[in-house]
Parts: sequence; C-alpha cells; structure tokens
Amino acid sequence: MNFHILTLFPDMVMQGLSTSIIGKAKENGLISVEAINIRDFTENKHKKVDDYPYGGGAGMLMQAQPVYDAWKSVADKIGRKPRTVYLTPQGQTFSQPMAKELAKEEDLVLLCGHYEGIDERVLEEIVTDYMSIGDYVLTGGELPAMVMVDSISRMVPGVLTNEESGSTESFEGNLLEYPQYSRPEVWMGKVVPEVLLSGNEKNIRTWRKEAAIARTKERRPDMYAKYEALDQCRQVLMKQKLHHMDMIELIARGQAELIYADGATVCLYDNVSGVYFHTTDGYEKGCLGMEKIKEYAQNHGGIDTLYCIALHQEDMCEVAQEVLGVSPFITCKMAVYTKKEKLPITGLYTTNGKTPEGMVEIRRIGVEYAKEAAAFYDGPDGADYVREHLEEFGLYGAFLEEKLVGYIGRHPEGGMGILQVSPEYRRRKIAKALETYMINLSLEIGHIPFAQVVVGNERSVALQESLGLCFAKNLIYWMEK
Ligand code: ADE
Repeated sequence: MNFHILTLFPDMVMQGLSTSIIGKAKENGLISVEAINIRDFTENKHKKVDDYPYGGGAGMLMQAQPVYDAWKSVADKIGRKPRTVYLTPQGQTFSQPMAKELAKEEDLVLLCGHYEGIDERVLEEIVTDYMSIGDYVLTGGELPAMVMVDSISRMVPGVLTNEESGSTESFEGNLLEYPQYSRPEVWMGKVVPEVLLSGNEKNIRTWRKEAAIARTKERRPDMYAKYEALDQCRQVLMKQKLHHMDMIELIARGQAELIYADGATVCLYDNVSGVYFHTTDGYEKGCLGMEKIKEYAQNHGGIDTLYCIALHQEDMCEVAQEVLGVSPFITCKMAVYTKKEKLPITGLYTTNGKTPEGMVEIRRIGVEYAKEAAAFYDGPDGADYVREHLEEFGLYGAFLEEKLVGYIGRHPEGGMGILQVSPEYRRRKIAKALETYMINLSLEIGHIPFAQVVVGNERSVALQESLGLCFAKNLIYWMEK
C-alpha cells in the first residue's frame, strides 16, 4: 500500500514514520510513504502558499493552486484519481473499522491543512473523505496523517509479524483489551492474577474475557453499550446455533454493526466485507428488518454500496429482491466444527518445507501465486475473486515439490472457503489436509470454524462430514446486485 502525504512539513512526517514497525514495513516493501511538499508547487517566486480569506476574518488560507498541483502530481504518477483524505476536525471521526477499510486501498492520499484551512474549491475538486482524529483542534494535519498511516498500516497483511494479531487486539469483539502481566510475579507487592500462572487455557480465556468486559464497562461505557446490544443478539442467535454461526462469529470477531434487532429478528452489517446479514422468525418483522437495512445502506454510502446480503429464511428472498434490488446468487448449507479440540495432522501435511511421501506442505501465499491459483479455480465467485483475495487477505497453499496443488482461505465475512485442489491432484487427501490446517488455525485464534457449502456440492459435503463438522438443517440464501 502506498501513502502519499501532501504537506508543508515533509520532514516531520517522514521522520515520524521511519522507525519501529512502520519503518520495518517500509523496508520490507509492504507499504511506502512519500511526503509531497506543497510549497514545491507554488507559482510565485516567494514560494508563498497562503493568502487572506475573501470576506475577511482571522488567519490565512492555503491557496487552491499549489494544493491542486501537488495532488495532480500524485494522480498523474499513479494514473488515476486516488482516494484522497483531508484531515480536518470537521471530518468523520477516524476509527478501527475505517482503518481496516482504508487498508484495502492500493494508494491513499492524505492532505494536511495548515493556517485556517484550505480554499474550498480545491477540496471540492480532489477530496473523497473528510476525517478527524478526535474532537480537538491541532495546529495542522501532519500528526493526524501520521496517526492514520500507523493504524492503517498495521491492518495491511504482513505488517504485524503475528499474522492474526491485527485483528485480535483492543477494540476487537467490541471490547477493550484485557490487562497483561510479565515477569516478575510480584512487583511492588502486587501479584500477577493466579489464573494466569495456572496453565489452564480455558480458565485463562474466561478470566480475560471477564476482565475485558469489566474494563470496557468502566472506561468506555459507550463501547460497552454496543457490546451488550450485540451480545444480546448473539444469545438470541445461539438458539439456532448451527444455522446462525455466520452471524454469531461476526459478532464474536468484532466485525458486526447492529442495524436492527427485535426478538429473533436480527440485521447486521459486516464492517470487513461489506456484506449484510438478515434473520427473522416472522414475515412482518422480517420485512421491517429489510427496510432497516435499506435505510442503513442509504445512510452509509448509498443503496448502490449494498452489493450482497445473506438471508436465513427463504421467504425473505422475494422481499429482499423488492426492497433492495438484489437477485439470488447461491444457496448454502452451514457446516460448523463444534468441537474445541484441534484435529490430528499426522500423515496429512507439514509446515516446515519438507514433504514426506503422501504429504503436502502448507504455507501462507500472497498475490505472487495469483496466476497459478486462478488456473484451477472453479468455485462460484469467478477467477478474479482469487486474485483479489490473495491481494487483500492471502490464502494458504498446499505444495508438492514446490508446485501449488491446492489452497484454502477465509472469506472476509468469516467462513472457511475458496477451497480448491488442482484436478490432477485430487483423491490424495489434499482438501482434507487444507481444511484440517484451517480448522486448527481458526481454533488457535479463538474462532469457531465454519464453512458454507453450496447446495449440490456433494464432494464438499462428504469432506465436511469426514472432518466431523455438523450441518444446520436450514439453508442460507445469498443474494447479490
Ligand atoms: N487538523 C487539526 N485538528 C485535527 C483533528 N483533530 N483531526 C484531523 N485533522 C486535524
């Protein structure tokens, strides 16, 4: 991902973003940061970039021309109009979901203002998003730009060494992080909570969850209220646990935005994938939920941004078609791995580069495998989906003598999927190896593994059954624009 910062103080931002994790991410080529000095684009010989505001008033304004030309130099270089954020206290408050969303951009321009602001006409011309880092006024946009580069970068795959840690720290699951302790066991008379020394993983997990809840309640009552509302939905959804595992996990993983809830009618938006989810136990309430989804989309980028919805009742398909203008895409069966224990891996795969007879090596792959992976993709989403997925999230590839023979991943909305094995390598337990790997990885990071199997895909049904996954009785209806 490439950041282009338009500023009057290029040294300040470049120095601030040169060390630690961000510095390393630059060295590793995962991100690039350039600071474009707006002053280099003035057309007057005194290199002046500001002037008095028409109509009078305090202070000076940055003029349109140098800002525009600085921006144009970036747009010309990358060959299109880039997403351009103007840092201003008048913007939308920057948040973790926004960081995640912006991390998907290839190029991002951050425009830093100074003095009393920037001539409105150039903002109208180039800015796509107005963002603030909080309700206070700073002397310029440089610090906010640095804050944004930092938090967006850690959402770029590969920037954090522990591949999943970007999505398991503070704010995930709508809770603050639990307290942590390191050596020594006693410091200034204060002891480390005993449970953390017990080695009992289950008790530790429970203690951490409770500590996170207590801390959120005390320090961030606003965030706690959201957590509580979603937790109530989760409890309702648990009554049909298998059927609703997609929505349950969306909440547990902190990706869910609550749109509407009334008893067993729950409508959610997934912050990560942009997919909408709907379930109900009654036609009237179901229709109301659909209207609420429409309203939500209208208020969040317009109805055209709603491209996909997962429905949990068949009679809602027609309603969705009418209200949201979506059409049937696929119908799926939900399969859930309900056990807590990891699956045995013996004889299936290695992760150390060696491949003894009959076993594959499994490792994370990126966009460098896009062509090889697309060559044997025959799923419902089209071959472009593989490239996009590799670019944004990566996949796990199975290798035999360095040849990619299969892969698996996680759909952004949470389910395991995108499982493919090259036709000439089928019947060698490679799919089983890949899904076993994925299940064990999911368990390690506290997810409940689940997959949605397209109705009619008997090969996949047999695989899920052989791995001990349980199928829900009811189906899920995916609709798309
Ligand atoms: N520029 C000045 N103050 C700011 C803030 N709080 N957020 C973003 N940009 C700003």
